[in-house]
Amino acid sequence: MRISAIVAALVATTAIASPIEKRAACTATSYDGIAGTKSCSAIVIQGPFTVPANKKVDLTGLKAGTTIKITGTITFAKGNLGKNDDLVTISGTNIKIDGSNGILNGSGPKYWDGKGGNGGVNKPKFVRLSNLSGSITGLTILGSPVHTFSINNCKGLTLTGVTIDNRGTNYALGHNTDGFDIGGSKDITITGAKVYNNDDCLAVNSGSNIAFTDNLCDGGHGISIGSIKAGQIVDGVSVTRCTVTNSDNAVRIKAYANATGGKVNNVTYTDITMSGIQKYGIIIQQDYTNDGATGKPGGAAPITNVNLNNIHGSMAKGTKGKDVYILCANCSKFNFQKIAITGGTAPTCTGISPKPSGC
Ligand SMILES: *[C@@H]1O[C@H](CO)[C@@H](O)[C@H](O)[C@H]1NC(C)=O
Ligand SMILES: *[C@@H]1O[C@H](CO)[C@@H](O)[C@H](O)[C@H]1NC(C)=O
Ligand SMILES: *[C@@H]1O[C@H](CO)[C@@H](O)[C@H](O)[C@H]1NC(C)=O
Ligand SMILES: *[C@@H]1O[C@H](CO)[C@@H](O)[C@H](O)[C@H]1NC(C)=O
Ligand SMILES: *[C@@H]1O[C@H](CO)[C@@H](O)[C@H](O)[C@H]1NC(C)=O
Repeated sequence: MRISAIVAALVATTAIASPIEKRAACTATSYDGIAGTKSCSAIVIQGPFTVPANKKVDLTGLKAGTTIKITGTITFAKGNLGKNDDLVTISGTNIKIDGSNGILNGSGPKYWDGKGGNGGVNKPKFVRLSNLSGSITGLTILGSPVHTFSINNCKGLTLTGVTIDNRGTNYALGHNTDGFDIGGSKDITITGAKVYNNDDCLAVNSGSNIAFTDNLCDGGHGISIGSIKAGQIVDGVSVTRCTVTNSDNAVRIKAYANATGGKVNNVTYTDITMSGIQKYGIIIQQDYTNDGATGKPGGAAPITNVNLNNIHGSMAKGTKGKDVYILCANCSKFNFQKIAITGGTAPTCTGISPKPSGC
């Protein structure tokens, strides 16, 4: 009896110290398990489980080269965090995230009141990628309370095959559910994404060498550069082979009239297909404000070297939208080729000389 008890104790002690147990600690099957995985170099976050209301998933300060596998559904219970909070934050060097069997459900429909980030109930942003390099593959995001991905201070990051579905139970109510917001980032590629949302599919606020390739954008405000505010510089964005459906706009560059020290340079949109566009097929404006366009463009942030090639498709039936709209005060070197947008009213292009073809 006594000997077998000692043996049992020894077995138990050995089990705790065994590599199998260590590996198990690198797999989180609940919210509480996540913190303990952060020192691991191969993390598994395995749903289904629920992140309690007002809790955030912190995956910052990971070891360089860490791999993370996300599987199953992780649901974020509705709480009252606000727009300065992010439900998930990820940072680290050369981090490889495989989300091909993973779903993050932000319970968006429980927050949505049609007011987005401009008022109504508190709504947290969903996933912040900050100081992150590496890759994310195949993650599905459902129901962002507001902005979905905020990509800040990242250099060398590729997102492949990410799905963002903010249709929820009432697609129209999920205001400001931006797909990808990029600020202060360099060498970013987003490819093979499907975005169903209710604001910009992509919004590049500042950064350089950004590629947005082979993506679908539905329901939102289009593939956007800006809105550019004071000091924000975008230099080098290429948007290639994307489809925009049932959206306000397809191709968009927007700057505040007074954006001193801002600029947009070297932007290329190639092979863009659109359908069901309600406002503008192509819009480039220097009179943007969050409260609406003023009609008075200002050239504090110049927009230069804009290349559009093979931009085609149709506006929504019965729309009062415009195929092409440019309102500039400081724009130059616009080179448009093969612009073929039908179903809207005729183009209006003001403040750009020479007028690009299609204007
Ligand atoms: C997402 O979570 C909400 C709970 O907030 C739930 O009602 C909904 O069914 C979930 N959606 C999916 C597809 O799992
Ligand atoms: C990212 O880096 C900046 C500057 O080094 C730092 O202030 C910030 O806290 C970092 N953020 C994260 C989430 O690591
Ligand atoms: C323009 O930006 C692209 C990236 O989008 C980059 O590859 C190219 O070198 C840039 N061209 C110039 C002249 O800077
Ligand atoms: C720039 O214009 C916007 C919209 O009119 C205004 O809200 C903001 O205060 C202005 N910024 C500056 C620095 O004047
Ligand atoms: C256009 O932008 C350039 C560079 O910032 C600036 O020097 C110039 O004054 C601007 N022109 C107008 C008409 O705003």
